[in-house]
Amino acid sequence: MKELGIYLHIPFCKQKCYYCDFVSFAGKEQKQKEYVKCLVKEIQEKKSKINKDDYISTIYIGGGTPSYLDSQDITEILKVVKESYPIQEQAEITIEVNPGTVTRKKLQQYQETGINRLSIGLQSCDNGLLKEIGRIHTYEEFLDTYQVARKVGFHNINVDLMLALPGQTILNLKDSLEKIMKLDPEHISVYSLILEEGTKLERKIQNNELTLPDEETERQMYWYVKNTLELNGYIHYEISNFAKPGYESKHNLNCWKQKEYLGLGLAAHSYLNQERFHNIENLEQYISNIKDKKSKENIILDEKQDVESQMKEYMLLSLRTIQGVNIANFKQKFIQNPIYLYHKELDYLVKNKLIEIESNQIQLTAKGLDLANLVWEEFI
Ligand SMILES: C[S@@+](CC[C@H](N)C(=O)[O-])C[C@H]1O[C@@H](n2cnc3c(N)ncnc32)[C@H](O)[C@@H]1O
Ligand code: SF4
Repeated sequence: MKELGIYLHIPFCKQKCYYCDFVSFAGKEQKQKEYVKCLVKEIQEKKSKINKDDYISTIYIGGGTPSYLDSQDITEILKVVKESYPIQEQAEITIEVNPGTVTRKKLQQYQETGINRLSIGLQSCDNGLLKEIGRIHTYEEFLDTYQVARKVGFHNINVDLMLALPGQTILNLKDSLEKIMKLDPEHISVYSLILEEGTKLERKIQNNELTLPDEETERQMYWYVKNTLELNGYIHYEISNFAKPGYESKHNLNCWKQKEYLGLGLAAHSYLNQERFHNIENLEQYISNIKDKKSKENIILDEKQDVESQMKEYMLLSLRTIQGVNIANFKQKFIQNPIYLYHKELDYLVKNKLIEIESNQIQLTAKGLDLANLVWEEFI
């Protein structure tokens, strides 16, 4: 008997944000209905991948902008998921919503279909900055979405924020954080901007139209966010994620605990039976493969893990969480002691003060949090 997650990808956005290279498209609205039909087929077909006594504890509808679809489409998708898979009664069911694409009616329908967690993409409370990065909404529109979501009964809301945005200052970030904390969301994700190749933002930076904060400012922003949120009752449970006690995202935690999940839809990634695989990223091809009953051609196998790569990955994923690697859990899962197995890597990291090892736990230090990439590289 195994606990599994389901991820459903909705690859449509009203407009492409300048920094974003997720698999999502603007201007392909005419494909939405066809896509939903194909996704429903894939959901039904892939149920054979699950063992009879496995059960689903989390469902995550991500994107793209899932709230850009008609809410009846979301209802239909979830109905088929529930008919096809054994869903735990208290399963966490999340949908990503983008202000500017949601209405009260949509939020009510999400409630009625059993969605119990909302993740709202805001990024900043500064309207100038929102415009600069290509967002379609203002802070006030976000506020409206948030307040309506509370009114229709959502008790578990995440807000996404970004730091190190072009022209963003610490003062500006402080203002955003204060405004968000006043709303008292259960969960806040704070992502440092990754300047992705080929994005509009990258071009603007290269052409000197915009400038990014320097590394030291980015570091100060990160620590400001961490300290402020911790002082205000949020637990910093993963590099980019903060939650009120008991509201840590099960979907996120399961990914970092190396639990299995089934990804459905364009470009969705899966981890099942020690295999990592993902769907192709070409929307038209994905649709035609399903229509022509060649859905196997949508799948690309990334890795069939042996125990060695599974153990390394476990170290890497655990070191993303603030709790770190629990040595007893590692031993129980792999019947090996990580302290002996990785003594060379761990010695190096301890010597450089990037991690600390205390009784049963291997954890990042403050320096390790700043230089987390260096730590993870040891286990790649
Ligand atoms: C896949 S997006 C989906 C959420 C929704 N579409 C929205 O933007 O409101 C999830 C989050 O990833 C973050 N994100 C996207 N691109 C990023 C980048 N290049 N660097 C850092 N964070 C990014 C944003 O905070 C965004 O809200
Ligand atoms: S709305 Fe979200 S998924 Fe779509 S482009 Fe913007 S950040 Fe990316």
